[in-house]
Amino acid sequence: MPDFPTGFRWGVSTSAYQIEGATTVDGRGPSIWDTFAREPGRIVDGSTGDEACDHYHRHAEDTALLAGLGVSAYRFSIAWPRVQPTGAGPAHAAGLDFYDRLVDGLLAAGVDPVATLFHWDLPQALEDAGGWLNRDTAARFAEYADLTAARLGDRVKLWITLNEPFIHMSLGHGIGTHAPGRMLLFDAFPVAHHQLLGHGLAVAALRARTTSPVAIANNYSPVRQVGDTDADRAAAQAYDALHNRLFTDPLLGRGYPDAPGLDPAVVRDGDLDVLATPIDVLGVNYYNPTGIRAPEEGSPLPFEMVPLDGYPRTAFDWPVAPDGLRELLLQLHERYGDALPPVQVTESGCAYDDVPDAQGRVDDPERIAYLDGHLRAVHEAITAGVPVTGYFVWSLLDNWEWAEGFTKRFGLVHVDYPTQRRTPKSSYAWFRDLARR
Ligand code: BGC
Repeated sequence: MPDFPTGFRWGVSTSAYQIEGATTVDGRGPSIWDTFAREPGRIVDGSTGDEACDHYHRHAEDTALLAGLGVSAYRFSIAWPRVQPTGAGPAHAAGLDFYDRLVDGLLAAGVDPVATLFHWDLPQALEDAGGWLNRDTAARFAEYADLTAARLGDRVKLWITLNEPFIHMSLGHGIGTHAPGRMLLFDAFPVAHHQLLGHGLAVAALRARTTSPVAIANNYSPVRQVGDTDADRAAAQAYDALHNRLFTDPLLGRGYPDAPGLDPAVVRDGDLDVLATPIDVLGVNYYNPTGIRAPEEGSPLPFEMVPLDGYPRTAFDWPVAPDGLRELLLQLHERYGDALPPVQVTESGCAYDDVPDAQGRVDDPERIAYLDGHLRAVHEAITAGVPVTGYFVWSLLDNWEWAEGFTKRFGLVHVDYPTQRRTPKSSYAWFRDLARR
């Protein structure tokens, strides 16, 4: 592996609902994922995040794993329903106490706390009032950001407002495979706009409380056009606008692109200025490219997704395509030029069916190859002039993978859920050696 620039941030990521468990402890309110996971048929193995990795009670052990890994940063998310159990009103001290302990533990271990404010676990009470379809949720989000930063603003080293607003819109509100399970297709656009409005308002709220840098973590997927007709080209462009530009163009001062479903009536005077509130870092989450061709006649979508041949595949059946990461970093640089702030890869990782051997060891050479390839892609992008300043592996621990329940393992550390025993995989040792170097 070639050398990375001095100061490059080596990290790992997790999110609250996927690891914490303790969903009814210390006054946490219900979130949309508690509700959704209980609906029959939503989660493949019928599980919930009620216990997950029990990180709420085992955070000291997990912080020791981070220290052993030698990473300089840990990206976790804060559960809004712990801070405001009903999504409104004063801060719930017991909820913030947990993050206070976590942050102090990280700092004592020499690990920078990187906090995401929203990783999809909206307080259920806000969903009952319309959720992100309701413009007021943006204002509620800024209030929650303010309350959280009032307590942790002096110690969190990087704030991330939203995680993957595109995925929350499309899977949660477009096709309903994630919470809250709405199937609005392109009528889900208000969810995009209100999240971005909440982001802009939250950036301002954070700035008033902290001097730490502020970011958003977007999901990107370079589009591989399948077929060569004008209709295929138009389909690829439409998908690219939706996935890669809808949540970035307005943040970087370009206004909305021409994307399917865009409804100008939702956007009020002055909103675009709020969306373009300057950020210090752009978080990039990358897993795989997307194959797109023209839709069949009569399709409700202006594109069709097609599996991409010729790549190795993860247990999620996602293509392993490190070149896609280099491509998207170069594309961001070309598209936005000087308007692009420094980039940190805030998620990159893969699921494999990791099983302990007879000695209890977990060997995961595919994950090592995956990370090696993706880090080399990042290095190539840096060499080509893209300002990339960090890379976070998804994920520290095997955890509760949303609609896939416990069936997909993304961790550098294996978790045996019945006993909650943590076993570092061989990829943990590999990444440790790299991060130390
Ligand atoms: C999400 C994570 C998720 C990962 C793997 C990302 O879209 O931010 O929460 O576990 O992908 O599916």
